[in-house]
Amino acid sequence: MDIFKEYKDILDHAFSAMENAYAPYSNYHVGACVKTKDGKYHIGANVENASYGLSNCAERSALFATYSQGYRKEDIESMALVTGENTLGTPCGACRQVMVELLNGDTPVVIANRQNKAMVTNITELLPFSFTDDNLK
Ligand code: THU
Repeated sequence: MDIFKEYKDILDHAFSAMENAYAPYSNYHVGACVKTKDGKYHIGANVENASYGLSNCAERSALFATYSQGYRKEDIESMALVTGENTLGTPCGACRQVMVELLNGDTPVVIANRQNKAMVTNITELLPFSFTDDNLK
């Protein structure tokens, strides 16, 4: 499967979101996009802060934007995450915890960079044995 062809539209949106990254401290630019089943794209970028710990990752920006518009996990078709770096920017631990709550376990998560590297995974693979609302019962 050519991931760049198969997921062209969502990746195009994620790469254009990456241009919006506000990352004056790390200079590490990340873009994300959530595609909902109604064909809409919801983008997010990392947004940093001089108080570093307040920075928000691209994945959470995109997912929170999607949920803020009323969509829920069953409405989501796929998610993409991109960087301009050489290595693939797999999601940080905090984002994985948010993703396990806000995405279905088997929803495709496409991770790509500008050097034509790409992979498709899902949050079950990214965060096995996760802590969820099941643990609270
Ligand atoms: N970042 C993301 O946006 N997503 C990730 O999964 C990893 C890290 C951002 C946070 C910070 O703005 C910069 O990348 C460097 O850590």
